[in-house]
Amino acid sequence: MCGIVGYIGNQKAAPILLSGLTKLEYRGYDSAGIAVMENGKIEVQKDKGRVSNLYKIKEIENLQGNIGIAHTRWATHGIPSKENAHPHTDNTKKFAVVHNGIIENYVELRKELEAEGYSFYSQTDTEVIPNLIQYFYDKDDKNDELKIVRAVKNTTDKLIGSYAIEVLCNENPDIMVVVRKDSPLVIGKGNNENYIASDIPAILSYTKDFYLLENLEFAMLSRDSIRFFDKDLKEFNKKADTITWNAMAADKNGYEDYMLKEIYEQPTAIRETIGTRVNEGICKFDELNFTKEYLSSLKQIYIVACGTAMHAGLAVKSTIERMSRIHTQVDIASEFRYRDPLVDEKTLCIFITQSGETADTIAALKLCKEKGAKTLAVTNVIGSSITREADYAIYTHAGPEIAVASTKAYTSQITLLVLLAMYFAQILNNISKEELGNIIKEMLVLPNKVEEVLKSTEQIKDIAKHMFKEKDVFYLGRGIDYTTAQEASLKVKEISYIHSESYAAGELKHGTIALIEKGVNVIGIMTDTNLVKKTVSNMEEIITRGAITTVVLSEEVAKDLNTDIFTNVIVVPNTEIYLSPIITVVPLQLLAYYISKEKGLDVDKPRNLAKSVTVE
Ligand code: G6P
Repeated sequence: MCGIVGYIGNQKAAPILLSGLTKLEYRGYDSAGIAVMENGKIEVQKDKGRVSNLYKIKEIENLQGNIGIAHTRWATHGIPSKENAHPHTDNTKKFAVVHNGIIENYVELRKELEAEGYSFYSQTDTEVIPNLIQYFYDKDDKNDELKIVRAVKNTTDKLIGSYAIEVLCNENPDIMVVVRKDSPLVIGKGNNENYIASDIPAILSYTKDFYLLENLEFAMLSRDSIRFFDKDLKEFNKKADTITWNAMAADKNGYEDYMLKEIYEQPTAIRETIGTRVNEGICKFDELNFTKEYLSSLKQIYIVACGTAMHAGLAVKSTIERMSRIHTQVDIASEFRYRDPLVDEKTLCIFITQSGETADTIAALKLCKEKGAKTLAVTNVIGSSITREADYAIYTHAGPEIAVASTKAYTSQITLLVLLAMYFAQILNNISKEELGNIIKEMLVLPNKVEEVLKSTEQIKDIAKHMFKEKDVFYLGRGIDYTTAQEASLKVKEISYIHSESYAAGELKHGTIALIEKGVNVIGIMTDTNLVKKTVSNMEEIITRGAITTVVLSEEVAKDLNTDIFTNVIVVPNTEIYLSPIITVVPLQLLAYYISKEKGLDVDKPRNLAKSVTVE
């Protein structure tokens, strides 16, 4: 899971490549490098650490070339180091390659090449690629313009795994070749210039016209042409897509960090996700042709995802079950795919993924398809890999999410999935017009309520000031509030490195209470009026043992409660229970954010994590 960028045109390549890499750092940031064609010779510069280190390299500043490739790395094979950083070159220094993905059979390929006399200078899986390309290139007697594409194709024929690859060759100084399989790559079309990147936002400030390369499609780029070839190197025409996001949406827009900006974008993201899906008291999903017969035939619904997206699944599980009366399970993609799940044509499988690129989620989807189930992807990225695999795709409209810790994608996913649950209920006649109308009414005012919560930052900053030195924090809730506890706990853990755990409040007595002593921080979430009394007694048990308590309460819960017993009380607006995770998570996202800021950490790029996990 790395980021790659490429440029071919008439401008100086290096500044464009560095700016693209900076935008892709969320995909990896332990080393970075660029290769630029300088007077027919490939010049490579790379270093360990962040992309910002490249800005300090004098030689990069002096690069004048107009063609180049670049990479920001998240180490898989080989430690983060200058040697393991990309670009990698072949033994003859004729080719330079950047690669995102994993070559699973690199050990065998390396042995084969070593037997042919090749040497290796890094511990990466990638280094076999430029050497294989050079091997096939030099063996090819036909000296036509497609010689380099043939060498790349012969190389990919040998590779097992995933890859998005950019190739430069000093014998063909005016072209660049790219190919992808199971790792993302887009080509941006400019005016006498072309761009390449792992994702659209990286190059959105230069162009709005994009080609989304499919698996095993090759492209040969010059300044003024892009030629596409299929897996058998048959040339074909491809249509460009025009993207409507603006570059501003993918920029910080005055906020200190992307995460903060994205937290504040939630009202808009929710509004946009609802969009025109509700009309005259009805939920519309025109792209799904689900009939009453089909939905009634289902034995179960499986929701499969990773990380925060999986938490969005947990937050809607009981809503989908309640509205469809279909048994609904939520599973972690990396577990699901390896345990021969009981899935058949009577199962609807829903995959939630912000990026649409998470390797385990895509693999789980393929498995479900093989087993005969219908597959539905819920994603934020149009044209992402999962949308091309799934039977159906529905979109959140959160706009680009850059911070590694997901915020607006999560609340948009819940919004869309509650709408989907209502759509099921409509088809199955499981919901009265009145109830449907009430939930829709509440959904339409939800963005304003989230805006209201976003005004209470001073109180949250203050709590963060008292909490940031802690070693542990516990999150508790019951029912739907427990799902928010799980997401809130993940948020603080991933960006502040504080050990944190979430518990169903009723489970406390079965172990966790042993860890509660004077001064331990516990955060309770209570919005479900049916369960609040139970959670309050759990909170009292821990207050007796000296815990410092912070609670998130709905107005309705707060008004009937003696809140004096808690150390900190955050009150959020009332809403329908199905929608409550969208509101309760917001102050806890902010809490995680401000704790991380108090600790002076890099909020957007937490250590060891990446935004898209496109490898296992
Ligand atoms: C990574 C990210 C998380 C994200 C998860 C799933 O772990 O750091 O923020 O929730 O991947 O990503 P997806 O794109 O599939 O939603």
